[in-house]
Amino acid sequence: MISPAEPYRIKVVEPIRLLPRHQRIEKIQRAHFNLFLIPAEDVYIDLLTDSGTSAMSDNQWAGLMVGDESYAGCRNFFHFEKTIKELTGFAHIIPVHQGRVAENILFSTILSIGDSVPSNNHFDTTRANIENQGASAVDLVVEEGRHPELEFPFKGNIDIQKLESFIAKVGPNKIPLGMITLTNNTGGGQPASMANIRQVSQILHHHKIPFFFDAARFAENAYFIKKREKSYSNKSIREIAQEMFSYADGCTMSAKKDGLANIGGFIAVNDDSLAVRLANLLILIEGYPTYGGLAGRDLEAVARGLEEVTNEDYLEFRVNQIAYLGKRLSEMGIPIVKPTGGHAVFVDAGKFIKHISPHNYPGWALAVALYREGGIRAIEIGNVMFSKHHPETEEEILPEMDLVRLAIPRRVYTNSHMDYVVSVFDHIIMNPSCIKGLQITYQPPILRHFTCRFKEINP
Ligand code: F0G
Repeated sequence: MISPAEPYRIKVVEPIRLLPRHQRIEKIQRAHFNLFLIPAEDVYIDLLTDSGTSAMSDNQWAGLMVGDESYAGCRNFFHFEKTIKELTGFAHIIPVHQGRVAENILFSTILSIGDSVPSNNHFDTTRANIENQGASAVDLVVEEGRHPELEFPFKGNIDIQKLESFIAKVGPNKIPLGMITLTNNTGGGQPASMANIRQVSQILHHHKIPFFFDAARFAENAYFIKKREKSYSNKSIREIAQEMFSYADGCTMSAKKDGLANIGGFIAVNDDSLAVRLANLLILIEGYPTYGGLAGRDLEAVARGLEEVTNEDYLEFRVNQIAYLGKRLSEMGIPIVKPTGGHAVFVDAGKFIKHISPHNYPGWALAVALYREGGIRAIEIGNVMFSKHHPETEEEILPEMDLVRLAIPRRVYTNSHMDYVVSVFDHIIMNPSCIKGLQITYQPPILRHFTCRFKEINP
C-alpha cells in the first residue's frame, strides 16, 4: 500500500498555465534573469516560498465572513488569543501582520548595542532585525547541520558545548535572549529535538537568560519529534507542541507558515512588564493590541489555521510530499540536503553543477533553467544571496553552500505537480548546457538578490 493521499479534497481551483517556451525565454530575459521580477501569473509551479502561499480550508474561508472589523476588542482577537494561549501556554499574545514585525518590535524593545543573540541559525529577517539594533546574531547549529549530505535526525539542534562557551565568553548580561528557529529554515528546514530544546532552556535559564522560539514552523518540528524521538511516538502533535513551548519564555511567529494563513503573526511572552512595553511600541508602529496590523477576518483565519495545523494526517502528508520530491531527485543523482526537512527540498547546486564557476552563480543559473525549461520558480539560497565583498580588494567572498530551495506551499500542489518538477530536472540533466553561467550587470548595496540584474555569459 502506498502512503495515504492528500487528506483533503479540492473544492475550489485556481487555474495555472504553462507558457510556451518562446514566451518563457522572453519573460526571463525581460526580467534580467531575476525570478523575483517575473509576474507570478507567468509561472507554472511556484516554489519560491511556502510563506503566505497556503491554501486555506473551507473552515478558514467561512471564518472570514465572521470577521469583526471593530477597532478595539473585536471578537476574532479573543478567539486568536485563546487559541494561541491554549497551544503555547504563554500569558500575553500580541498580534502583528507578519513575522519580521514581531522580530522588530521584540528586538527594538530588549536589545542594546553590543548585545548578542545566539540561535541554531537565525533566519535572514531575524538576523537583519538583530543587527539593526547594533547587536550580533550568532549561529550555533550542531556540526551535522553544516554538511548537506549527512543524514542526522535533528540537524536543527543547537551545539550545547558551543552555547556554553559562548555564554562564558561574552557574559550572560550581554545576552538579553537566546533563540531557536523551529524548524531551522536556513539549515534546510531541519528540526530540533525535544531533548535539545530542554537542554538549551536549562542552560539559558541557569544564566537567567530568557529563551524564545522563532516558531514559524513549530508544527512541522513537532511532527519530526513524534517520528524521530522515541518517547514521543504516542503523544499527539498538540501535546508535543505544548511541551516544546513550555520550555520557552516567549516566541515570535510568522503565521504565514504554520498558521496556514496568507498574512499574520504574533509575539507571545510570559513577562508582564515586557508585554506592556511591546504593546506600547505595537501601537506606535503596527496597530492597537487587539488587531496589530490585521483585519479581524485575518485574525480569524490564523486562529482557525493554528487549530488545523496540528492535525497529524495533514502533517504526515505534508512531510511525506517533501520527502517524495527529495527521494525522486536523489534517485536521479541530484545532490540534496539530507534528510529532507519540513517545508522544502534544498538542491546542492554547488555540487550538482560543475561546468559553471561559483562566481558565475551555478545555483541562480539552475533556478533560471528551471523556469526556462519548465516554468518552475525556485529560489537560490547561495552565492548571489549571501556573498560578501572584501572591503579593500572588492573580491567576492562566497558562502559555504550554493543551494536552490524548492519550497512547497501548504495544501496547494498535488504529487502530480511534484512528478512534473522531477521531469523538468530530468530534462535538465539530459541537457546540462541549458544551465548557463551569469554575470551581474546591476546590484543594489543590500539584499541584492531581490532586484539585481544579470546577463548570461555563454548563451
Ligand atoms: N522566521 C523564519 C524562520 C522565516 O522563515 C521567516 C520567513 C520569518 C521569520 C519572517 O516572517 O515573512 O512573515 O515576515 N520566511 C519566508 C521564507 C520569507 O520564504 O522562508 P515574515
